[in-house]
Amino acid sequence: MLSFPQNFLWGAATAAHQVEGQNFNNEWWDWEQTPGRIKHGHSARVACDWWGGRWQDDFDLAQSLGHNAHRMSVEWSRLEPKQGEWDEDAAQTYRAKLKGLRERGMTPLVTLVHFTHPRWFMEQGGWLNKASLAWMERYTTRVVEAFGDLCNFWITLNEPNVYMVLSYVWNARPPGAGSLPQGLRVARNMLFAHYRAYEAIHRVQKDAQVSLAHQWRTLAPANPRSSLDRFATWQGNYVANEMFVRALTTGKMPFPLGRGETIGDGKMPLDYFAFNYYFVSHVTFDVSRPGSVFARLLPPTWLKGTSFEELTDVGDLAPNALYELLKRFARWNLPIYITENGTFDIGNDNQLPSIDNQSSYLVTHLRAIQRARQEGVQVNGYFWWTLVDNFEWDAGYWLKFGLYHLDVESQTRTKRPVADTYANIIRGNGITDALLAKYA
Ligand code: FCB
Repeated sequence: MLSFPQNFLWGAATAAHQVEGQNFNNEWWDWEQTPGRIKHGHSARVACDWWGGRWQDDFDLAQSLGHNAHRMSVEWSRLEPKQGEWDEDAAQTYRAKLKGLRERGMTPLVTLVHFTHPRWFMEQGGWLNKASLAWMERYTTRVVEAFGDLCNFWITLNEPNVYMVLSYVWNARPPGAGSLPQGLRVARNMLFAHYRAYEAIHRVQKDAQVSLAHQWRTLAPANPRSSLDRFATWQGNYVANEMFVRALTTGKMPFPLGRGETIGDGKMPLDYFAFNYYFVSHVTFDVSRPGSVFARLLPPTWLKGTSFEELTDVGDLAPNALYELLKRFARWNLPIYITENGTFDIGNDNQLPSIDNQSSYLVTHLRAIQRARQEGVQVNGYFWWTLVDNFEWDAGYWLKFGLYHLDVESQTRTKRPVADTYANIIRGNGITDALLAKYA
């Protein structure tokens, strides 16, 4: 048995736009109106219907699996639909959700911005506009004043690195700028905004725990003997990971985001590390891609022969890379939470799963975490992405990461085997030898 400590947080992670439905006031709604942008023409109109009240059923499901925590996000475009105007009805709905979590014995972890922004924010340039720092600060202050009695565990921004790449460097997500220089400006302003939000939260709430969720993208050269592949990997890793963690851990803006200038008071604006971790991507040098620092991601080998083989944004399975990540960040002596980890069901597209590929992913990644814990790394919680299949951004409902399968039309939830595997681990607060023998 590989045991975890008694107070370990076990949960799933969700994000407002992906589960709520009826989110008509942000850039994603506008973006999805153009055909061809979302896989199979899917729409977030209904999603998991949380705005229609089904969050209650889903929180019941999480409770039934033994979860003692849940990561969710609040939607800025609902809380501040017009610039400077706070929507009290929306706030009450979120209060009900946060209370709903607490009543079910789950600690809420709340993300303030998870990829979506009010239309008014984007119309004024979004994070390219320096004024966004002040907008973020005001929004954050209101959120913590409104929900601070129900939550003290916060993430300011979800994955600025992924946002920078998919929304600005490439064209996969709104606003689809296709510009590395714009991406770098966005990243710079988001890091400054994080700092402002970090300070704002602590002004309102003394015991707050605040972080920024960074998706750690492990990159490896496709051909380790090729110096060009190694060069592209080094550059990709610097832009996707290193410059962000450097900014956060040193309190200074590194090149090319800045010239070493101090962010705020220069202290580390984190109370814990929040890492989202999925896969390792293999990188090859591609001279035709200067805008992507000459890095091209290869399609993962484990998806060959499945209907997912075209995916390049997904990498290969590498629980060991998670272990290495944790070991590396141990030296800051901050608690670490894995705020997203998971994989999608590769069973037949719209059918229920024929093979349970998610359980072995869960067990092997938790084993990697436990190994790091045994070596002294303070990992205090784990959030599986995600509870119920949801609107996976540009992939629509095609990628199904849920512990529960969702039929969007009928809104029926069906439990996947991984839900029971996870519940078994949570119940015993550890991974049994039987699970290890079966999956690892
Ligand atoms: C992460 C996002 C999350 C989800 C997973 C699969 O980049 O934070 O919303 O889409 O990927």
